[in-house]
Amino acid sequence: MAMSRNRFDLTGKIALVTGAGAGGGLGHAMAVGLAEAGADVVVSDIDATGAIATRQEIEQIGRRSLAVACDNGRREEILALFADIDRDFGHIDVLINNVGAGARFRPEELPYDDWQYVIGTSLTGAFLCATEAGRRMIAQGSGGSIINISSIAGSSALGRGNLPHSVAKSGINQMTRELAVEWGPHGVRVNAIQPAQIRTPNWIAGSKVMDWDYPVWERHLLEGIPLGRLGEPDDLVGPAVFLASEAAAFVSGCLLPVDGANLAMNAGGNIHWPANRQD
Ligand SMILES: NC(=O)c1ccc[n+]([C@@H]2O[C@H](COP(=O)([O-])OP(=O)(O)OC[C@H]3O[C@@H](n4cnc5c(N)ncnc54)[C@H](O)[C@@H]3O)[C@@H](O)[C@H]2O)c1
Repeated sequence: MAMSRNRFDLTGKIALVTGAGAGGGLGHAMAVGLAEAGADVVVSDIDATGAIATRQEIEQIGRRSLAVACDNGRREEILALFADIDRDFGHIDVLINNVGAGARFRPEELPYDDWQYVIGTSLTGAFLCATEAGRRMIAQGSGGSIINISSIAGSSALGRGNLPHSVAKSGINQMTRELAVEWGPHGVRVNAIQPAQIRTPNWIAGSKVMDWDYPVWERHLLEGIPLGRLGEPDDLVGPAVFLASEAAAFVSGCLLPVDGANLAMNAGGNIHWPANRQD
């Protein structure tokens, strides 16, 4: 009997995941997840120690890895990162543009430098990584997959001091569509994942800035998540492997929410039926 082929197998693929240091959340989970699916994975992070820890984890799985200290807000460091990939691997098939920065201010009080920091790190940094990867994928002639980590905040507003973060993520969404169109003829697929309320170390720390006790904050969030739980970093792994793989060969320009149906429900929606309903 013929063996069915595994369309999610990433054996032989070279991937870069930015912000994948072991002290982070989603990038780390996705980098290890791609390696488990067969890919060799380059790990970049501003935190050099965290990047090395993720590299060691990937090598223990039996894949090749490279850890590079790189600040996504610095063009020269991104160019050096890609020069390292050229030197050590000479090829790139998958980019996960994961780094995201934040600055929490009321819009009318947001300092110019914080606006520049968030847009520069989250949006311009993602643009630079995408164009460096895309240029190589086009030249290779074998296509590739670029996965931009956006947010539900790219499609709907969060309030509570998230202006530059949301604007950067909406830019990521539109960059995803534009690049999917521009690079489709070269077989380069470009998609975005829109996560929400994923319990990464940074997300848990950020949730503490609210004046509410944590249980109250969590109850508030769960009212907007029909699947009835918060996300975990591992929830990103399956979608990332799918988008990186041959299983998504005809999927490009897609914004994929990984949010427990948070974006699907509007403010008039409700997960509760009235208790006194008779029928
Ligand atoms: N956690 C969530 O609920 C959530 C929701 C929506 C979107 N996201 C997005 O997912 C991505 C990852 O989120 P997370 O919560 O895992 O992030 P995080 O803040 O924990 O950071 C992930 C990694 O990025 C690194 N990093 C920070 N600044 C950097 C820089 N300038 N250059 C290079 N590396 C840098 C950190 O050292 C860390 O290892 C971000 O783009 C974030 O906006 C997360």
